[in-house]
Amino acid sequence: MTTDRDDPALRAAVPSLAARAYFDPLAHERELQRIWRRHWICAGRTEEIARAREFRQFRIADHGVLLLRDEQGGLRAFLDSCRHRGASLCASERGRLARAAIVCPYHAWTYDLQGRLLRTGAQHPPVGFDRDAHGLRPLPVREWNGFVFCCLDPDPPPFDAGFDQPLERLDAWRLGDCLSVHRTILTIACNWKVFWENYNECLHCPGVHPELARLVPAYGRGLLEARDDPDWRGRAAAGDPSAGDGLRPGARSWTTTGEPIGPEFPGLGDADRHAGHVYVTALPSLFVVGHVDYARAVRLRPLGPETTELRVDYLVPRETCAAAGFDPAPAIAFAERVLGEDAAICETNQRGLRAAPEARGTLLPEEYAVRAFHAWLRAEGAVD
Ligand code: FES
Ligand SMILES: [Fe+2]
Repeated sequence: MTTDRDDPALRAAVPSLAARAYFDPLAHERELQRIWRRHWICAGRTEEIARAREFRQFRIADHGVLLLRDEQGGLRAFLDSCRHRGASLCASERGRLARAAIVCPYHAWTYDLQGRLLRTGAQHPPVGFDRDAHGLRPLPVREWNGFVFCCLDPDPPPFDAGFDQPLERLDAWRLGDCLSVHRTILTIACNWKVFWENYNECLHCPGVHPELARLVPAYGRGLLEARDDPDWRGRAAAGDPSAGDGLRPGARSWTTTGEPIGPEFPGLGDADRHAGHVYVTALPSLFVVGHVDYARAVRLRPLGPETTELRVDYLVPRETCAAAGFDPAPAIAFAERVLGEDAAICETNQRGLRAAPEARGTLLPEEYAVRAFHAWLRAEGAVD
């Protein structure tokens, strides 16, 4: 989402969404329809299905998806529903197929890894039965930086449609070669939009994230970026050090000490190294933050109108993981504290929304990225 900070419209306050949009089951169903069943959704890391015949199941809204690696090393995604009578295709959530075939656990209809129906097991082959018309329903699937994305719509939008940055923006981090050294799975009692709105502003940072506000001076002033300060140009021209982005003097990464947990990614440019954090957002399901030494990926999916699941991966270069004495704890402890603070405040936000279902809140100029998120939702026909 790009923003022209000189746009006078951004200096006005504008209404937020109606409170009902955050808990009403019909509103939620509309969002599933317009967003979650139509967009590219991050389903996990490629390292989870690295070898031929490895599979895992994934759910988007009420649809099960079977992801697997075929014998040629390609990724495949199918609707997880047998063409016989609809059973889920695998009895377990993840694993490795014993041979190059998907055998339904119910009556053993058998498909190859391209989804073609090979056998039904019928004693009396039905007259006129067209086996080719009874293959698994394939879904579009893509890899990006070691993440697997799939789309429930067989005619998906362009892959980069939900990205706020060029697809190459994090290339210097070589995330496809990184390993997840820790995963946190968290269920938050809030609507998925509440989480994204909180992500898209830092007015809450001084009050909710005292430690983060000390690490990132702009956040400590309630700004997403230092140049959001109306006096930014003047301060920057005067050489005011607090007019810059980046971390507090002496700190190099998002850790409890400010020290990195390993060597810096060698390909980083000066600007990315000094920024301390580089964000890439892929609506509606993923954001990735690259730090100098590790990256954090946060995946999100709605489990219901007022329940959202987060999966957080800490991604570290293989060489760093293998080094003697490697310890990611300072990064995990710091980020988990921030995550916990955000989760708690999102739940607080959610609890207040039912009191006045038709009311709309107010967005301030600093909440320009929340406006952009709402504009995206409207453009998708997901909200009024
Ligand atoms: S439902 Fe799959 S074989 Fe019967
Ligand atoms: Fe926050």
